[in-house]
Amino acid sequence: MDKNLAIGLFDSGIGGLSVLKQFLKFLPNERYYYLGDTARVPYGNKSEQTVIDYSKQCAEFLISKGVKLIVIACNTASAIALDAVRSITDVPIIGMIEPASKAAVIYSQNGKIGVIGTRATISSKAYQSKINELAGGAKEFEIHSKACPLFVPLVEEGYANHEVTKSIAREYLSDFIDYNVDTLVLGCTHYPLLKQTINEILPNTNLIDSGEHSAIKAIRVLANLGMLVDDSNYIEKTPKIDFYVTDIPATFYELTKVFLDFDVKEPKKIILD
Ligand code: DGL
Repeated sequence: MDKNLAIGLFDSGIGGLSVLKQFLKFLPNERYYYLGDTARVPYGNKSEQTVIDYSKQCAEFLISKGVKLIVIACNTASAIALDAVRSITDVPIIGMIEPASKAAVIYSQNGKIGVIGTRATISSKAYQSKINELAGGAKEFEIHSKACPLFVPLVEEGYANHEVTKSIAREYLSDFIDYNVDTLVLGCTHYPLLKQTINEILPNTNLIDSGEHSAIKAIRVLANLGMLVDDSNYIEKTPKIDFYVTDIPATFYELTKVFLDFDVKEPKKIILD
């Protein structure tokens, strides 16, 4: 495989841009394809079979473009469709669940870990299983999970630090204070934008950003394969990203600006089926 091939990321919509942002921080010289399935978002309240079907279609599109790594930049798709996507390709795949679970296991001192995500992610129990698997019985972890479905629309309305969001966050998160969790997995692409709000409610809790830890994992995976782009000391100032979407809704440019600090240029509209 050619190390100059792009890294392909896909998400149910624009939330995965929070993951892309982390990749640009850790791997600024790579080329990227970002696919947002904006016509069919959200995945977080869809059935398992639908999330699997959609995720396979997204991955197939990236494979057809020729990529050296696929990142499932969506917690819901990672929780439900990782194995299904792996079954259709030999291209290495990174999801959100394993890197964030590993970080939680390492960060947690008292063994009490909280996980928040969409309804589909939480009911899949993917984080619980992975945390317990990684702990390997060496330490008993107490895991508390909570679906926080209102967080996605609130972030998309630009309400990340609004009083309404703070009040809903208190409602969703106060149990974690009683459970004394010292580590909280932000198991959804939109939640890193709520770090400040969450931090006000859980000030002494480690917040695990799944995008950040998946980017760190990507460095390891590509380095092991000898597939990191040749770097030297040069740092790319203008990110090399091709954006693909299945729809360009009215709020698209406004929304992408919330997730990235720069404008998404010329997104190409594609049809997946
Ligand atoms: N990207 C999704 C996730 O990380 C959130 C939006 C959706 O429900 O599709 O779970």
